[in-house]
Amino acid sequence: MRRVAVKFANLDVEFVDREVGLGQVATWAERGALFPVVIFGPEGCGKSAFLRQAAEVLRGFGYDVVYVDVSHVDFTAHTDVAEVARRLAEAASEVSGVAEVKLAYLAIEVIKELIRRGKKRVAVLVDEAFQAIGIEKAGLYVKKLLNLVEYPPRDYERIIAVAATSEGVSRSEIGRHRWADVMPMWNMPREGFQQLYEKLPGPKPPFEEAWRLAGGNPGMLSRLYLTSWDSGVVVTRLIREKRLTPDFVARWRGWLEKAVEDPEALWSPDAPEELIRQLVERNLILYNIYERQQIFWADAPPPETDPELGIGRNVAWQTPIHREAVKRVLDAV
Ligand SMILES: Nc1ncnc2c1ncn2[C@@H]1O[C@H](COP(=O)(O)OP(=O)(O)OP(=O)(O)O)[C@@H](O)[C@H]1O
Ligand SMILES: [Mg+2]
Repeated sequence: MRRVAVKFANLDVEFVDREVGLGQVATWAERGALFPVVIFGPEGCGKSAFLRQAAEVLRGFGYDVVYVDVSHVDFTAHTDVAEVARRLAEAASEVSGVAEVKLAYLAIEVIKELIRRGKKRVAVLVDEAFQAIGIEKAGLYVKKLLNLVEYPPRDYERIIAVAATSEGVSRSEIGRHRWADVMPMWNMPREGFQQLYEKLPGPKPPFEEAWRLAGGNPGMLSRLYLTSWDSGVVVTRLIREKRLTPDFVARWRGWLEKAVEDPEALWSPDAPEELIRQLVERNLILYNIYERQQIFWADAPPPETDPELGIGRNVAWQTPIHREAVKRVLDAV
């Protein structure tokens, strides 16, 4: 299988690892899927890169594939129907704000068009559509994907529809219905993460340290690399991005202190719902994590628990740096 080139920090690298996940895509390609798949997971865990590589896998199985990166207004169309790329390019050239919404819906339209034209194997991969169209419409969007699979405009052999999101809240919006298989993706497994680490040039800390800081999250690894491995700077930025104000932290001090020790504390029945909602919304934690059976996960599941990386059975910090950001504010207030 050809490995696609993806942007990583300021480098172009070959997609690495995720063998299990790519195997799952191959299975969908061979057997077809009854439902759309919605992949969610920590920010920067590699969902977008995975979708790009998945497009390549599906192409290898003879699929016409449309990949749309809604938030970055970007797309790839593997098809000989020139009309499809033309329409996507047209939507992408709209002004910011309009382009995103158009692309998100057009991705579904062009798939219908491909089926109408007699394509038998088609796949649509939509990246970060929900933020652009509005989280409250995420459920309906997924319903549209389901309609595509269930009521295609004419006979087809197989349709694969995959959407990825890092929005913690869209999960509950989608999960309320049985319109999709919702599958979490975790940060990279250690070996894969190490392959990526090896690709980074220049002086770098030992792998163990990179692992302890980023917990297998390639987005965090890239941030660390771009700040010359100054984790303090990465933490400072994160504190700002996540609006971890002294007020917020002071308000929830007791629970946050426990959660920094062990995120599973938030699983306790008396943990405040409001705090949990805030932490999920700000993409600091993953809450209500699935059983670690492979079948529930896109690519390999995380370990049952890993206190060092901040992974509990039901609740986990997205990366150790996320936990560190909260800890830093707690210590300062
Ligand atoms: N398996 C991989 N091989 C090579 N590079 C990867 C891999 N996974 C992720 N990357 C790179 O790591 C960075 C973060 O990954 P990516 O953007 O795919 O994560 P994401 O989950 O989509 O993040 P976000 O939540 O911000 O959308 C990107 O530069 C991406 O190209
Ligand atoms: Mg992404």
